[in-house]
Amino acid sequence: EMSAAVSHELNQPLAAMKTYLAGARLLMQRNRLEEALASFGRIDDLIERMGAITRQLKSYARKGQQQFSPFDMGEALASALSMMEPQLRQRQVQINRILPAAPVQVMGDRMRIEQVLVNLLRNALDATKSERNPTVEIILSAGETATLTVRDNGPGIEDLDSLFEPFYTTKQPGDGVGLGLAISSGIVSDLGGRLTARNGQHGGAVFEMQLPIMDSTEKTQAAE
Ligand SMILES: Nc1ncnc2c1ncn2[C@@H]1O[C@H](COP(=O)(O)OP(=O)(O)O)[C@@H](O)[C@H]1O
Ligand SMILES: [Mg+2]
Repeated sequence: EMSAAVSHELNQPLAAMKTYLAGARLLMQRNRLEEALASFGRIDDLIERMGAITRQLKSYARKGQQQFSPFDMGEALASALSMMEPQLRQRQVQINRILPAAPVQVMGDRMRIEQVLVNLLRNALDATKSERNPTVEIILSAGETATLTVRDNGPGIEDLDSLFEPFYTTKQPGDGVGLGLAISSGIVSDLGGRLTARNGQHGGAVFEMQLPIMDSTEKTQAAE
């Protein structure tokens, strides 16, 4: 479970910090300053890691209740892309968007869905870091469900089974703590949808977010 994993992940560095601190104290009493300094360095890393986890959790914590209202997925995608603008400007990434002509109405907390989109896009940007022609394709379609697909031409997913587990990451400390997909899949399933991942037939990762679509009767009810 998410909160159990989080408290484990925060308690572990706390315990380790106590150990390093006790060690540093002893080393200082014995005038072994070099070694004491190394211990302080480890403590610094642990503080850094706890800070990264807290920041990540905070960015997903929203004040108050979830806001349930109908919104257009295409608009949520546009907001997510504009939130990513600083990162996008730093890189030469080709972003291809395929959107249907008509709006795709879904019901839910738009802010949270935007956070899911930002996380998928950020992962795609990270994954294409070493590609010669980094490309991210975003496809929105409406059928039985609203489906948003994010496809990149990076190296693909290493371990499909661990992908959604809290704290699973292949990134360097400081680049990722492995909470994005765990939180994102929670957000999507809270809205009655699902977030899935696979590797593309021609390489790269493919993430698919499906959300229940709002039909016209629901739209009328929501408007009342
Ligand atoms: N587009 C992608 N291509 C390849 N691997 C990915 C992609 N997105 C996510 N992953 C893998 O899933 C892991 C977990 O992702 P996430 O939960 O967002 O945490 P983080 O980005 O902090 O590592 C990543 O470290 C990476 O190994
Ligand atoms: Mg991520």
